[in-house]
Amino acid sequence: RLATKAISAVARTPSSRGFSTTSAVDAKVAVLGAAGGIGQPLSLLCKLSPEVTELSCYDIVGTPGVAADLSHIPTKSSITGSLPSPVSWPPRGNGGLAETLTGADVVVIPAGVPRKPGMTRDDLFNTNAGIVKTLVEGCAEYCPDAMIAIISNPVNSTVPIAAEVLKKAGKYNPNKVFGVTTLDVCRANTFVANHMGVDPKDVDVTVVGGHAGITILPLFSRVNGAKFTDEELEKITVRTQFGGDEVVAAKAGAGSATLSMAYAGYIFTENLLKAIRGEDIVQCAFVESNLTDAPYFASPVKFGKDGVKEILPLGELSAYEKKWFDKMMPELKNQIKKGVDFVNN
Ligand code: NAD
Ligand code: LMR
Repeated sequence: RLATKAISAVARTPSSRGFSTTSAVDAKVAVLGAAGGIGQPLSLLCKLSPEVTELSCYDIVGTPGVAADLSHIPTKSSITGSLPSPVSWPPRGNGGLAETLTGADVVVIPAGVPRKPGMTRDDLFNTNAGIVKTLVEGCAEYCPDAMIAIISNPVNSTVPIAAEVLKKAGKYNPNKVFGVTTLDVCRANTFVANHMGVDPKDVDVTVVGGHAGITILPLFSRVNGAKFTDEELEKITVRTQFGGDEVVAAKAGAGSATLSMAYAGYIFTENLLKAIRGEDIVQCAFVESNLTDAPYFASPVKFGKDGVKEILPLGELSAYEKKWFDKMMPELKNQIKKGVDFVNN
């Protein structure tokens, strides 16, 4: 009962709009990087979720312990913890990526190094590009039909990396590969609700572009009832764009956002599972897109059981938003190209 209470508190999200039409079905979620700062609380939320029937935790360290620990929570989902080598929990001698991914409906990837103060997300590229490439090669082999939700930074490059890896393997489905930008929506909702003095659950800010600095563009002009001076609008926009830096600075060398990201990653994952079982879900995601001249773009997306059903039109931007949009596009396109080139050159 406690578990149900906790999860229903989590599940009330302003960043999604869903209409329940069918009942729950079996769903396997694999978390890659499950022993990390994001991976552990994300796995906890998945273990609590009524949407998840099987949870597979994979990392290069620690997952037998994470899985043994989570297995004592009395929810209906089964759980496994695997390492690359044949060590697993429960002990069965066949650990590894293959058993983690086989049968997965949704794969969530928070594997990779986080930022330290003074770094950009792009500074993580050299380490994280290879990690994402290897893990997505595993997806191509063991769960080619799964939806893949990428958290590992730099998202603007790791999503194109995933797409190119899958293309090379002949397994790419653009409707099933997403960059998770939900934390940007969470931040925008929190900041604007504080500004307006309303409950954050009553706002749902559209955030478009990408997931790094000025490529993050919150469309506050669309928030009903929100009023800003020019100075306030600039402040809340820049705070949303650099919310990640605020956490990195406060953690002072101990990493970046983990708890808020686990929440955001869980909301995104749960919405995918709801879509798989027939609900109409709209949430922002960084996907292959022809809304702009960048080949990938974050925007509100309608999800169905086969992933992206429709990328919703961008609509009119205010003059202020248009200024940021023009500034962002060269940077976004460069970061996307860097990911594509990494796999192909
Ligand atoms: P962390 O260092 O605490 O955890 C990362 C985990 O990945 C570790 O447990 C590590 O062992 C594991 N790992 C490394 N290589 C692996 C491999 N080859 N296979 C499987 N697992 C592997 O870092 P964190 O704070 O959890 O952040 C993880 C990533 O998420 C970072 O790149 C960070 O920048 C990113 N992030 C993204 C968002 C977003 O909004 N998309 C938000 C916060 C953090
Ligand atoms: C965030 O937005 O918090 C993440 O992308 C982590 C970071 O490096 O800022």
